[in-house]
Amino acid sequence: MKETEKLNITKSLELYEEAVGLVPGGVLGARKPGDFINGEYPIFLETGKGSRLIDVDGNEFVDFLCGYGPIILGYREEEVDKAVCRQIEEKGFCFTLTQKYQNHLAEKLTRIVPSSEMSIFLKTGSDATTASIRIARAHTNKLKVMRCGYHGWHDWCVEMKGGIPSKFYEDVYEFQYNRLDQLEALMAVHGNETAAIIMTPFGHPNHQKMAIPAPGFLEGARDIADKYGAVLVYDEIRTCFRLSMGGAQKLYGVTPDLTVLGKAMANGYPISVVTGKKDIMMTAADKLFISSTFFPNSDAFVAALKTIEILERDHVLENIWEKGERFMKDIQKLIGKYDVGAELTGVPPMFYITFKKEETGAYKGKRTDFYTQLIRKGFFFSPYHHAYISFRHTEEDLNLTLKAIEESLAYVKEKY
Ligand SMILES: Cc1ncc(COP(=O)(O)O)c(C=O)c1O
Repeated sequence: MKETEKLNITKSLELYEEAVGLVPGGVLGARKPGDFINGEYPIFLETGKGSRLIDVDGNEFVDFLCGYGPIILGYREEEVDKAVCRQIEEKGFCFTLTQKYQNHLAEKLTRIVPSSEMSIFLKTGSDATTASIRIARAHTNKLKVMRCGYHGWHDWCVEMKGGIPSKFYEDVYEFQYNRLDQLEALMAVHGNETAAIIMTPFGHPNHQKMAIPAPGFLEGARDIADKYGAVLVYDEIRTCFRLSMGGAQKLYGVTPDLTVLGKAMANGYPISVVTGKKDIMMTAADKLFISSTFFPNSDAFVAALKTIEILERDHVLENIWEKGERFMKDIQKLIGKYDVGAELTGVPPMFYITFKKEETGAYKGKRTDFYTQLIRKGFFFSPYHHAYISFRHTEEDLNLTLKAIEESLAYVKEKY
C-alpha cells in the first residue's frame, strides 16, 4: 500500500512560528500540534462549511472533531448564523440588563432535559461544572466531591496541577467510569462529608476507549448519592443535544439532581447551563454570587433557541444515529478485515478508533501511522480524541471516509 503524500502545511508552520513569540506555546490546550501529530496536521484553519474545513494552506478536510463538540448541525449553519446576525442588527446582544431569551431557553430546557426545573446560563463548560459544584457544596453544607470524567480546566479538576494550591483539589476524589465499586469504596469513607458526585453518564475519558453504562452503574451511583444525601450531577457537556435531545439521562433513563450542558446546544456559540431540581438550584439565588459580564449576552441564547428548533424540526439526532450506525458497522467490518489491533468504541453520534495496548509499545506507531495516513488523505480525526458525526456529514463524506480508513488500515497492516 503506497504511502500517502505529506500535506503542505507551510503557512500553518509560519503562523505557528510567529505565534510562539506572541502566545505562550503558540496555541492553547488541545489545539497544540503535539496533541495531534507534529508536522502532519495543520495548525491554523482558514474557513469551514458544513462538514468541511479548509486550512491556511488550502488543504480541505472532512472534519470529525466538530470544533471539539459544539458543531452538531455543521459549520456556518446559515439559519443559526442568520438568526444571530438579525439579533445583532435589529436588537443588539450586549446590554446593561438581561434580555427575555433566557426565559425562553430555560422554559425549553424544562421540556427537553429530564432533570431540568430551573437553569442558570454561563459561557463555558468549565464555568458550568464549577458552578454546579459550588451549588452542591452550598446546598449540602458539605465539602467533598467525587468525580468521574473530564470536567474542564478549573482548579478543582484539571489534570495539570501547576499553579494550583493543593487545598483547592484535595477534597476531590476520582473514580473510573463503570467502576461502581470504586465509588462505593470512596463513599464508604467520605460519604457523610460528600457534597456532590459529578460524572459523565456516558463514558468518554480522555484518550481512552469510550463506554456505555454497564447494567446497574448509573442506577447504583444514583442510589449511593441518595443514601448519603449527595447531589448527583451529570456532566452532559458533550452528550446533551447529541446522544439524545435530553442527553444520556434521557437515553439511559436515570435522572440526576443537576445537569451541566452546553456545546451542541448552540452549534458553536458560547453558552453553557447548570440546570436541575428547583430546591437545589434555588441555592444559587439564596447563597451564591454567580455573575459575569458576558453571561447574559443574547447572541448565544438566540443561537441556542434556533439550534434546538432545527434539531427538533429536522429530526437531526435521528439522522445522525442512522448515518452513524451504518458508518460504525462498516468501520467494524474493516477493523475485522485488517487485523492490526484497532478497536472501535462509542455510539453512532460519538465514537473512537483506538489501538490495543501491546507491551512492545508498537500500538503507538500503528496509531501514529493510521491517523497520519487519514489526515494526509483529507480526513480530520484526532489520535487522542474521539470523533463526532454532525447533521451535515453526507453519505458521500462517509463513503469517502470509509475508503480512506480501509487504505490506512491496509497501510498499517503492511508495515507492522
Ligand atoms: C464533559 C466535559 N465537561 C466539561 C468540559 C469543559 O468545557 P469547556 O472546555 O467549555 O470549559 C468539557 C470540554 O470538553 C467536557 O467535554
